[in-house]
Amino acid sequence: MQIAEEPATTNRPTTSGRPGDPCVMVIFGASGDLTKRKLIPALYNLAKDNLLSKEFAIVGVARNELSSEQFRDLIGKEISEFATTKVDPDLWHWMSRRIYYLTGDFDDQQTYPKLIDLLTQIDQQHGTRGNYFYYLATAPAFFAPIVKHLGVAGLVTEDNHGWRRVIIEKPFGHDYDSARSLNKEIRQVLDEKQIYRIDHYLGKETVQNILIFRFANGIFEPIWNRRYIDHVEITVAETVGVEQRGGYYDKAGTLRDMVPNHIFQLICLTAMEPPISFDADVVRDEQAKILKAISPMSDEEVLTRTVRGQYGEGLEGNTRVPGYRTEPMVAPDSRTETFVAMKLFIDNWRWADVPFYLRTGKRLPKRVTEIVIQFKRAPFVLFRKTPVDRLEQNRLVLHLQPDEGISLRFGAKIPGPVVQIGGVDMDFNYADYFNATPQTGYERLLYDCMLGDATLFQRSDQVETAWHVVAPILDVWEALPPRRFPNYAAGTWGPPESDELLARDGRHWSNANDLSR
Ligand code: BG6
Repeated sequence: MQIAEEPATTNRPTTSGRPGDPCVMVIFGASGDLTKRKLIPALYNLAKDNLLSKEFAIVGVARNELSSEQFRDLIGKEISEFATTKVDPDLWHWMSRRIYYLTGDFDDQQTYPKLIDLLTQIDQQHGTRGNYFYYLATAPAFFAPIVKHLGVAGLVTEDNHGWRRVIIEKPFGHDYDSARSLNKEIRQVLDEKQIYRIDHYLGKETVQNILIFRFANGIFEPIWNRRYIDHVEITVAETVGVEQRGGYYDKAGTLRDMVPNHIFQLICLTAMEPPISFDADVVRDEQAKILKAISPMSDEEVLTRTVRGQYGEGLEGNTRVPGYRTEPMVAPDSRTETFVAMKLFIDNWRWADVPFYLRTGKRLPKRVTEIVIQFKRAPFVLFRKTPVDRLEQNRLVLHLQPDEGISLRFGAKIPGPVVQIGGVDMDFNYADYFNATPQTGYERLLYDCMLGDATLFQRSDQVETAWHVVAPILDVWEALPPRRFPNYAAGTWGPPESDELLARDGRHWSNANDLSR
């Protein structure tokens, strides 16, 4: 991980850093949404910030019959819609001349010799030096076959040919066994250091900032442990339903879709020990230790420490929205969960007995991703003989999206002759300090891959351990299908059991009003 120090008051984006290596990015599944919405706009932003090599090219691979010219035109029409900044025609002209397209079936070995020809041509024309990275933006069923075909074609062999890397999108497996066998299959062809398992949460600035916040400031780390912290809450709430993804979602459910990946990334960054350096494996070793320290639940604990829900019809703002079971491509008697809450423990010296409460779901009242660090209450003894009847707990909130910032809540004296205490917030908003251009969240991840830095990507052991932690939940839930779905109305904070999960411990979720700023 590259870190350049900047004065805190700098009001400009951090664009220092050398351009990525000369290379070709080959996108499998180039006709899908990800390419136009995220990947091409992210590459454009990198080019704008001089972080893309002048010797760079893109090859889109998909089944649709298109020529490179047609693909370029198509992308050219879409870029102004999806770019995060105004598109400079000269820069786009430069980029579009580097975009190529290959029609082909991912699982047809015939596609790959054609790819070799095209890449050889591009190397000659654009000086890309045989450095290729393949982005698998396809259905997961194609991950292993594509890697196998690349291997047979010699397209991932590195000796003296340049570097070869493969970025694999989520979901990486749908349970522990499938993740293991996928790892096994791709490791027969690729070295671990060539594999970049992506989790787009790690591309978010505010998520990366958790590490900086914790380890580049001296004052938080000494109190970042079980002596001072009462509990941690992680909320990843979405207002959208399953949109057009019912086909995938109805098989996956919220637990698989959000927990072993995005939410566990947030737990790792929040809970990990300081690494001894920012080298990829050093950082990932510390994250893997956290995942290994999360005690998998017994069947009994799954019943008492997890909550699942499915949204029924309800109100999203003032609009009436349908229940999950009537969404497109969803079974009318579906038992798939769209909401999950749970309590986890990390069994290590720093976190023993500190509950981590997690909740995530679709069709909740508000889009918000937050990590709440709730500190223990100060001793009350001093206030016994005053009108103060209770003390607020200090609370640090890392606001990850859509608001980006950090706030610290503490008690202050309410002005007046009688001693009264009110909770006040000290707020930091990203937007007030850093005048950065909006990003897609993929810039950093693509850039790091071009530099061979895998810090923000998942190693095989991390992915497998994460699935191992959720395996008992998947098993128990499958064995005991929910009886009362739907159990929360769209536009509410999930089923009542979610509140009861904390109430049983004498706690409550930092509710929607508290979370909004
Ligand atoms: C994806 C999930 O990985 O993350 C989606 O498949 C979810 O279901 C999305 O909506 C959330 O991402 P973000 O960046 O909008 O928080």
